[in-house]
Amino acid sequence: AAGLRGRSLLRELDFTPDEFAHLIDLAAELKAAKRAGTETRALAGRNIALIFEKTSTRTRCAFEVAAHDQGAHVTYLDPAGTQIGHKESIKDTARVLGRMYDGIEYRGASQRRVEELAAHAGVPVWNGLTDEWHPTQMLADMLTMREHGGRPLHQVAYAYLGDARNNMGHSYVAAGALLGMDVRIVAPRALWPDEETVVGPSRAVAAGTGATITLTEGVADGVRGADFVITDVWVSMGEPAEVWDERIALLTPYQVNAEVMRATGNPAARFMHCLPAFHDRGTAVGEEIYRRTGLDALEVTDEVFESESSIVFDEAENRMHTIKAVMVATLG
Ligand code: CP
Ligand code: NVA
Repeated sequence: AAGLRGRSLLRELDFTPDEFAHLIDLAAELKAAKRAGTETRALAGRNIALIFEKTSTRTRCAFEVAAHDQGAHVTYLDPAGTQIGHKESIKDTARVLGRMYDGIEYRGASQRRVEELAAHAGVPVWNGLTDEWHPTQMLADMLTMREHGGRPLHQVAYAYLGDARNNMGHSYVAAGALLGMDVRIVAPRALWPDEETVVGPSRAVAAGTGATITLTEGVADGVRGADFVITDVWVSMGEPAEVWDERIALLTPYQVNAEVMRATGNPAARFMHCLPAFHDRGTAVGEEIYRRTGLDALEVTDEVFESESSIVFDEAENRMHTIKAVMVATLG
């Protein structure tokens, strides 16, 4: 698709279905080229700023490796190391960085901030996660579903279980709508995505693409026939620790375990998770929650996470190829 040069990636719904699909096609091409050793450098001499007001492993590393592969240089601004927002406004920061950099990645709480940055930087701005949307994750997930689904994406069904009022829940509704997919949000009603800002606009897109968007509280019905079963953490970055007890009470019935995978009725169903996951005790936060609650698992059991059905590390790798595609399409 022409017309992506100079564009920002702030949320999925800013893109047409063709534009969004083009980014996935380009990512597949770039991935194949890297594997074949035939990658060329479309970003030689470019400078890219990476602003992280929230922590990251995958997104930061994906931007750094992708930029390096394409010949660009990056500057990483960590959550503590900038003046942004407390000593200098977003608008001023945008105008400063826009004079030095060719593109800016921003991760933080506020969608309003990433939009303000894009409005004033004069260069493409890429949303590396806000409380509302996680668009680069969607490109990776859709590439992963394309690779594992065995069918064109518009014939693929996925069920997202858990907190659907967070960035991932919102983005799965919008991205599936753009790509004409069978989208099931399986969650307690209190954690369904907002009708006005997420579901309504996505249904309007779905009317043109043939996507179906189903919101349900029923796990068995929600996952039946799904090609992919997906979840995310029950408490997201920036939420207070006090919400854990309430989330556990609401979301325990939506845990992805072997029984849920069987309920798809599809032996080829795959498990996905954007990561990080609280499936084991290898983290300080996980350790504390498991000790306090006495639970064996939170959003996903070890059994499913470590099973043959789990494609979470293919998904993580695809963050890099898809973020590369975003930078190449908008700057290259
Ligand atoms: N999935 C994801 O965005 O991971 P990070 O928080 O590690 O970047
Ligand atoms: N919903 C999670 C996604 C992390 C990639 C969070 O915002 O913490």
